[in-house]
Parts: sequence; structure tokens; C-alpha cells
Amino acid sequence: MTNSRLPGLHNLTRTQRLALVARETGLAPAQVARLNEAAQIDGDLADMLSENVIGVMGVPLGVATNLIVDGEDVLVPMASEESSVVAAVCNGARACRAAGGVTTEADPPRMIAQLQLIGVEDMAATKALLQGRAEEIAAICNACDPMLVELGGGFRALELREAGEFLVVHLIVDVRDAMGANAVNTMAEALAPDLERWSGARVGLRILSNLADRRLVRARALWPASEIGADMVEGILAAYAFAAADPYRAATHNKGIMNGIDAVALATGNDFRAIEAGAHAYAATRGAPYAPLSRWRRDSAGDLLGEIELPMPVGIVGGATKAHPTAQAALAIMGATSAGRLARVMAAVGLVQNFSAMRALAGEGIQRGHMGLHARNVAIAAGATGAEIERIAQQMVARGEVREDVARALLGDKQDVST
Ligand code: MEV
Repeated sequence: MTNSRLPGLHNLTRTQRLALVARETGLAPAQVARLNEAAQIDGDLADMLSENVIGVMGVPLGVATNLIVDGEDVLVPMASEESSVVAAVCNGARACRAAGGVTTEADPPRMIAQLQLIGVEDMAATKALLQGRAEEIAAICNACDPMLVELGGGFRALELREAGEFLVVHLIVDVRDAMGANAVNTMAEALAPDLERWSGARVGLRILSNLADRRLVRARALWPASEIGADMVEGILAAYAFAAADPYRAATHNKGIMNGIDAVALATGNDFRAIEAGAHAYAATRGAPYAPLSRWRRDSAGDLLGEIELPMPVGIVGGATKAHPTAQAALAIMGATSAGRLARVMAAVGLVQNFSAMRALAGEGIQRGHMGLHARNVAIAAGATGAEIERIAQQMVARGEVREDVARALLGDKQDVST
């Protein structure tokens, strides 16, 4: 049995760690070799970005074509292992190109840090006291990051909220081109001792809120009925109405949106978990109990209009974005020179992704297109290599049976065919 106590693992080199893990788990030499091989180029970088690194997990980096955002053509790098995600953006973007593409707008890049005050005896008096110290609070926060202030960012506002038994202090901070987690967390931690001293209460947590609703981004686009067909407009509106009426469907609707947004986040080294958390929390504030992040309607000409709004806490400086050359290359491909532009393109991708998913679902369903692409993954999983991959994939699609057992059978192992 594997012993998960591996003291000192972090002090070893990457290859030593892998050897130790292989010994503990009985990993086959070929698998060890594969992990070492895959880490050849980015292994050292990975070692610096994370802990106990033993390898690098490659994710396909594709590029979505056809997108126009605010009048500018943009090629969008997307890192996703899911087939159809990149193709969906290409197709959806092509269908709204003639109508001008996607138009967007973004709020200023404001993040929220929260401090939890525990044991406040008089809420009203403590709120008044802290509001009276707003200028001192601003100065403490801004002193944490003079560079940010120099760039035009920094503390913007103090907000006081009651949540259950706690008084919650919100620091609203303009983080400019950063995602901003480090900036606001530093400010929250720096402020805590003064808050305790002034209020006589204890500060509990000091951390950003991922419900980044002061940093919303909006995108809208029109898909002409002449391009997609009046029936399809009808079908997409019915799909949207379903999502608006049912949280079970809204979750999937929003997952499709995030397929695109996460892929751009990953390609650009951004924290897709933060974006996910913010998006779903925002969806829960838009309608009870949970709403679609996009809205769809027909305009007076019978064309389809889509709109999306969600928090988009992304940056182009700092973190993995700065450290990872692939993320830098992705930003260069997009020509994204500000966090705002990146956020707006990501919202556009989310909207277009949503359009394509609904178009597929309202039409023939996603499985035929999806399986065509997915078949290659299945063939690889079954052991196909080289030219076999495409051959086996095509045979499975032609049979309408994209399954690993079928792929194995087509590779020669007839016993695995269950149908
Ligand atoms: C699959 O990853 C995403 C979809 O399920 C989204 C949707 O249903 O809208 C196709």
C-alpha cells in the first residue's frame, strides 16, 4: 500500500521526487519516462510555480478565429482539453461577424477585500467610528502598494456590511492591470491590527471576495435570422427560456459559457477558479435561486440578440501570467495590452460559446459534432498511435459508436466489443 507520508519530498529535485513517487506507487518505468519527457521544456518553470512538482500536464492550446470584439479582429488562444470548445467559438463568431461581431464594456478593475470583525458590541457605533477613519484606512491601504497608486490604482472606498453576527469591512481597491488578489490581501492584512485597535473587536479572516461584482464585464452581439434561420432563433430562445426557468439547466448553460472563459483564462495564466467562483456566485445573485449569466431575445427585425454580464477578475501582470512564457505568448496573440481588454474579449468568448452550445442543442444536439472530435481522444485512450488515431476515430464515427471498447476492438482486440 502507498505511504502518503513523504517527509522532505519538497526538498528533492523534480526527478528525485518522481523516482520516490514511482517507488511508492509502483509506477511503471515507461510512465516515469513519459512524465520526465513531458516535463523536459517546462519542468523547471513548473517547479517554481508550484510545490512537489513531478511533471507537467500539457493542455492543448488552440486558437479561436473569426471573432471581432469592439470592431477589432482578434485571435483568441484557448487552452482546453475538451473537444468542440474552440470550434464552437470559431463557428459562433463567424455567424455574427457580418453583423459587426461582439461589443463589450468593462467596469473599472475594482476588487473587494473582506475583513471579518468578530465580537462587535455596538454595530452602529463601530460603523460610524470606522467611517470616520476612512481616510486613515485609505492611507494604510495605499502605503502597501505605492506602485499601484502611481499607476492610478489604489484604495477607492470603504463599505461596511453586517453578515450574521459579524461586521464585515469591505475595501474596494482599483487594481489596474492585475488580477489583484495579492494587492488586496496585503492591504487587508496590513489594516487588521488598526481595525482591532479602533473597534475593540477581533479581526478574523482577511481575504478578497471572489464575488468580484465591482469588476463586471458585459458583452452583446446580434446573430441575424438571415444567417442562422428564423427557426434557430426560435430554438435558441426556447433553450434560453429553459435555463431562465430551471437552475438545473442554468448550471449547464453557464458551464458552457465557462468552457470558453476558462480556456482563455488558462491560456493567459489567469486564475480560472477565481473566475468560476465569481461567475457562479454572481449567477446566484441575478435571480432566485440561480440564473443564466446570459440573456437572449429577439429584436424587432427578428434577429437574435445575446447579452452576457459577469465578474471578470483577470490580469495581464503578475502571477503565472507574467512568469509563464506561454501565457505571455497568448496575450501577444490576442494583442491584449490591458486587463480590461482581456476581460472584454473573455466575455465575448463566453457569449459566443453560449450561442454555439444552444445552436447545437436546439438543432441536431451536440453529440455528433462532439463525438467526431472526441473520437480521437477515445482512440488514443484505447492505445492507438500515429495514423491509427485518425483511422480508428473515423471508423467509430462512421459506426456511430465512439467508445473505448469499440476502439480497442477496431485495434484488434475483438473481445472488448460489447455490442
Ligand atoms: C458541454 O461542455 C457544454 C454544454 O453542455 C453547454 C450547454 O448545455 O449549454 C453543451
